[in-house]
Amino acid sequence: MESVQAIKQRFGIIGNTPTLNRAIEKAIQVAPTDISVLVTGESGVGKESIPKIIHQLSHRKHNKYIAVNCGAIPEGTIDSELFGHEKGAFTGASQTREGYFEVADGGTIFLDEVGELPLTTQVRLLRVLENGEFLKVGSSKVQKTNVRIVAATNVNMFEAIEKEKFREDLYYRLSTVDINLPPLRERPEDIHLLFRKFASDFALKYKMPTVKLTDPAVQILIKHRWNGNIRQLRNIAEQISVLEQNRTINADTLKGYLPASGTNFPAVIKTSKSESDFSSEREILYKVLFDMKSDLNDLKKLTMELMKHGNTKDVEKNNESLIQKIYSNDDEEVLDFEESVTNAELISIPEHTSNLDDPVTSQDKYHFAEEIEEEETLSIHDKELELIKKSLERHSGKRKLAAAELGISERTLYRKIKQYDL
Ligand SMILES: Nc1ncnc2c1ncn2[C@@H]1O[C@H](COP(=O)(O)OP(=O)(O)OP(=O)(O)O)[C@@H](O)[C@H]1O
Ligand SMILES: [Mg+2]
Repeated sequence: MESVQAIKQRFGIIGNTPTLNRAIEKAIQVAPTDISVLVTGESGVGKESIPKIIHQLSHRKHNKYIAVNCGAIPEGTIDSELFGHEKGAFTGASQTREGYFEVADGGTIFLDEVGELPLTTQVRLLRVLENGEFLKVGSSKVQKTNVRIVAATNVNMFEAIEKEKFREDLYYRLSTVDINLPPLRERPEDIHLLFRKFASDFALKYKMPTVKLTDPAVQILIKHRWNGNIRQLRNIAEQISVLEQNRTINADTLKGYLPASGTNFPAVIKTSKSESDFSSEREILYKVLFDMKSDLNDLKKLTMELMKHGNTKDVEKNNESLIQKIYSNDDEEVLDFEESVTNAELISIPEHTSNLDDPVTSQDKYHFAEEIEEEETLSIHDKELELIKKSLERHSGKRKLAAAELGISERTLYRKIKQYDL
């Protein structure tokens, strides 16, 4: 049996992380059998080399290896592509045609993006996997084939099963053995190694000296999130290799090539469609900033009132809605409160809030707040406008949904739409 190192060399796989080695080891072990394998991992982690290893190390290596990108074939033709069709099966089917399962008899089929297969095709695939039988489109003659299936996906198959987009029985049949490839951010020790390899490849390709990173640049490279994994790292190595005159790349130059959202923040993991759909961490930060700034302005207004009038009861009475807004977490409550002021219960200001009692602290706070206001008002307003626009766009102008996403009441959103003349 070939060693993991030898396989890496043969298939051009760079890296030494134990999880990567384990994945390759699994591929080597499972190759001589006919077991179905499901390769999982984020986009760009290198899933495509696993089915090649499996095919090349199997007794099928002298027969066909066909890679099919299930996501790229239109739904209307995929059955015919995979299983073939009879002459006259549909308009334009002027000849009988063999499908991949017939052509690859004795070999291996790699079903990439298998999660994209239509449900009707999934039924056909299940049948082939269970007993090697299939029917050409438009034919009732059962045919036999002997094909080994390796599939790959970068989507969460359990979610797809839950949403009834993928058959559970097929999932278990495909994933007799699951080979998972780790995301690049979980392989920090491989990141610079991969960059050096790509930099040297591109230097050869473009006949230029190899680019090198300074130590601080290496640190930035390692800390980056690499949401696009090795594919993204490779692209960035190529851009730098082609564009940079100075072949020593420092941290600032490197930063210019890295998308801002992918650095130090934790990943925003979308668990369900109903959750906020902010596309970048920056947007979330801006939203937090707006909320803080709006709270701060309200507090400033209230403090001014207190300083002017001194009488807490009067201030309470005259600023009911403001107090309600500041001390309530629920925007909807503010709406109800504002709409039926007569029935509203007054919320008291806590008697001893240190910020209000202590002039020094209070002054310091506002001094700080003023500084922020002077420097940030413009860009924060711009960003707020941008956020609202995006959210409205995302929800096709439906204010209720946009307000829910932005975490504000519909009334506040309406006010802002007027304010920004949207
Ligand atoms: N360990 C590695 N060493 C060198 N190059 C690699 C490695 N892993 C991946 N690559 C390169 O990264 C690119 C992306 O890999 P690949 O196409 O296999 O990703 P993938 O996991 O199939 O992604 P997707 O789910 O988007 O299809 C390819 O150019 C591949 O050659
Ligand atoms: Mg792929």
